[in-house]
Amino acid sequence: MNSDVQIAGDWLDIPHLLPPVPAHPSTVSGFARLARTIAADRASWSPLVDYDATSRWYHRLRTGPGYEVWLLSWVPGQGSGAHDHGRSSGVFTVLRGRLTERTAYGQRTLGPGAQHVIAPGYAHDVVNDSLEPAVSLHVYFPGLTDMPFHPGRSGRSAASDAVLAATAHAPEQRSTATAALGGGN
Ligand SMILES: [Fe+2]
Repeated sequence: MNSDVQIAGDWLDIPHLLPPVPAHPSTVSGFARLARTIAADRASWSPLVDYDATSRWYHRLRTGPGYEVWLLSWVPGQGSGAHDHGRSSGVFTVLRGRLTERTAYGQRTLGPGAQHVIAPGYAHDVVNDSLEPAVSLHVYFPGLTDMPFHPGRSGRSAASDAVLAATAHAPEQRSTATAALGGGN
C-alpha cells in the first residue's frame, strides 16, 4: 500500500501541488528577490544602459501593481545629492562598478551585488567617487512620487526634487535628465 507521501511523491517535482507563485512581489523580501532576479539577468538590462556625462541617466525598467523598477547609470563624479524617498520604501542594488553612500551615520562603499533596503524617510547621498562607471537598480514600493532633497546636507538645489518623481509619471519609458535637473536614486 502506498502512503500519502508516496502517492504525492516529491512536491518539488510536482509543480501542480505547489502554491501558486505570485506574479508580483508584495513584501520587502519579495522586492529584494525581484531585484536580485533582475540583477542576475544581465541580458535584460545591460543593453539598455547608457552613460551620460552631463547627468545621471535613468530608465524605468518595469512597473507593477504598487511598485516600479529603475535602472540608473553613474559616470565617475556623478551623485544624487542628499535626499529621502518620501513615503516610498525601496531596494537599492549595485549592478556594476562601485557607489559610495553617505548618511548621517557615516559612509560605505557598495559594490556589485550589494543590496540594501530603504525605509520611508531614509536619507542618503549616493555618489560614484570611483574611476569607473557604475550601474544600479532601484525598486520603489509604492512608486516614487516624492523625493525631498536635503540641501543643508548636500548643497544641491531642491530643483532636483521634482525630476525623478515627475519622470516616474511621464509616459516615456526611457528618460534622460538634463544637467540642470540632476536626478535621484
Ligand atoms: Fe535614494
